[in-house]
Amino acid sequence: MQRLTELDLPDLPLEDPAFSADPFPYIAAARRRHPWAARCGHGIVIHGFSAIKALLWRDGALEGSYADVVGLMGAHGTPWGRFQEEMLLARQGDAHKRIRGLLAPAFTPRQAARHRPLMRAVIAELLDAWAPKGAFDFEEFAAQFPIGVMCSLIGAPRAVIPELRASLEALGLSQSLDRAHLPALQRATGQLDAFVQELVAGRRAAPREEGADLLQLLVDQIDRGGLTERELHDLLIFLFVAGYDTSKNALTLAMAVLVERPDLYARCAEDPAFCRRLVEENFRYLTTSTIPRIARADIVHDDVLIPRDTMLFFPVSIAGRDGRVIDDPDRFDPDRRQIRTHMAFGMGAHICLGQFIARAQIEEDLHQIARRLRNPRRTGPSQWRPFYGVWGLRGLPIAFDAGVS
Ligand code: HEM
Repeated sequence: MQRLTELDLPDLPLEDPAFSADPFPYIAAARRRHPWAARCGHGIVIHGFSAIKALLWRDGALEGSYADVVGLMGAHGTPWGRFQEEMLLARQGDAHKRIRGLLAPAFTPRQAARHRPLMRAVIAELLDAWAPKGAFDFEEFAAQFPIGVMCSLIGAPRAVIPELRASLEALGLSQSLDRAHLPALQRATGQLDAFVQELVAGRRAAPREEGADLLQLLVDQIDRGGLTERELHDLLIFLFVAGYDTSKNALTLAMAVLVERPDLYARCAEDPAFCRRLVEENFRYLTTSTIPRIARADIVHDDVLIPRDTMLFFPVSIAGRDGRVIDDPDRFDPDRRQIRTHMAFGMGAHICLGQFIARAQIEEDLHQIARRLRNPRRTGPSQWRPFYGVWGLRGLPIAFDAGVS
């Protein structure tokens, strides 16, 4: 058996803007040297679909390396550092199960389906405000949806969206591994903390007796001893963070494909069931996340020993383009047979809890957007976000004609 550290692995420049703008030629070249592993600046990238899938299930031996990222950023003992070290994704074993178990009943497919009318109302309201403009940056528009839906789920006023957006944008750089972002990360953590504390205090003063929402469910858990006040605040911040740039970037990436494919866009306007297929294909074709883990024990995969303490990165964002698992992977085809062959929501104990809400929301978004914003066309270029953490487009300027409301 070979040790991973002794293999002659290729390098992948994950931090390089050129990689971010088009990682696929780099990945193809890396796969010619080794089928599933490469080196990067901070550790090892696991880039093969089957290897990612097999390894992410090894929850006992892998741990979210969020505390290690705090160490690399020199931020132990700071408000952002504490949040990163204690949030749901950073927890393991029973400490993780306890909190995930409290949340899980509110995030089932059935609950997500129940929220669809509310999602439609949020989207319709946003489109009423934005559609008359005739042109805008689609990314900025897409940012409104996840915050608007989350605010509705927890009974927060939607007037807070612009302020929350600035903080969430800043926290989106949590995995960038760039110390220059630290002051903004600290500021954003403080602002979000103040927002959720005020929200919880307001709900305590005026509990929702009937039709308890997610916030009421969580506030009640404090009274039952299921959560501490600090855990509740962290959880609320985390839910905003987890659902924000992931959903916004996924919707923006879908739109970037659709402006080039008017045939598919027209079908989105006509058929909600087609939107469902398109959203899944989009999660395969281009998605957002690179999952960081640290090996807490030696792991053997494919007759290779991955030594304890190795920092591992799992780019589920590009895993769906692995031609060894998916036919004709670079073809965007919502009618393809292998429609759910992706890992956009991760794998294992931390698999995305909000995945059914995210899917429902993006499907509803696309259907209504395609009806209201006709004939969308690009009016300028996009940039790419850093690949580490939550990847995606920065900016998608479009113009369009008015459609039916
Ligand atoms: C397109 C949208 C989304 C994508 C691509 C996405 C992706 C992911 C991924 C890859 C993970 C696993 C991270 C890891 O293992 O380290 C995750 C975890 C999580 N996501 Fe999402 N997410 C999305 C939307 C949402 C939304 C809307 C919510 C909540 C409303 C949410 C809540 C969560 C939670 C709570 C976890 C942590 C689960 C745990 O630690 O047990 N996500 N997400």
